[in-house]
Amino acid sequence: MLQTALHFSHTLLKEVIAEGDSVVDATMGNGNDTAFLAQLVGSTGNVYAFDVQEQAVINTAKKLADVNLSEHVQLFHQGHETIDTAIDKDILIKAAIFNLGYLPKSDKTIITTPNTTKQALDALLPRLTTKGRIVLVVYYGHAGGEAELTLVQDYCQTLPQESYSVLTYQFINQRNNPPILFCIEKK
Ligand SMILES: C[S@@+](CC[C@H](N)C(=O)[O-])C[C@H]1O[C@@H](n2cnc3c(N)ncnc32)[C@H](O)[C@@H]1O
Repeated sequence: MLQTALHFSHTLLKEVIAEGDSVVDATMGNGNDTAFLAQLVGSTGNVYAFDVQEQAVINTAKKLADVNLSEHVQLFHQGHETIDTAIDKDILIKAAIFNLGYLPKSDKTIITTPNTTKQALDALLPRLTTKGRIVLVVYYGHAGGEAELTLVQDYCQTLPQESYSVLTYQFINQRNNPPILFCIEKK
């Protein structure tokens, strides 16, 4: 069966992340991706996770504690637009994941926005290792979602092909705006 965008995002991350890597969860939410990343980088790696909602940080901290993965994870109760100053300048990033949209079963008005998403991407690209990947899963069915999809699409499409490979993955015959995945890989 074809993988959902969410499932495929984990496949793309798993392919490149090894023990000891430094990685970013740009939208921690309930911490599903943070826990997944923490498992992949192991006790010698680092996960940096960001969210503007306190409840997201609380939920993620609990999830990590439950599975004994808290130690090498830094949870930032601040937006991913602060990545550049939050993470030490000399740290190279192997992979990052963005789940853009709102947190399901939570306040639907707290959404990721084009401007801050762009700032985060601008900060991550220079730190990305060769063969490193940034995966974005874009939910766009809500108010404001189309603008963010446009930003991500334009941003990805204009990256120079000499330096980056970029793909999109989407189901084109499904109802209700299924998420669209983008993956940027540094050459
Ligand atoms: C679709 S959810 C993420 C789901 C998450 N990956 C999970 O496993 O549960 C999007 C999240 O982005 C967060 N968010 C909104 N603006 C943000 C920003 N500027 N920086 C970081 N996170 C932000 C929201 O609070 C929300 O929790």
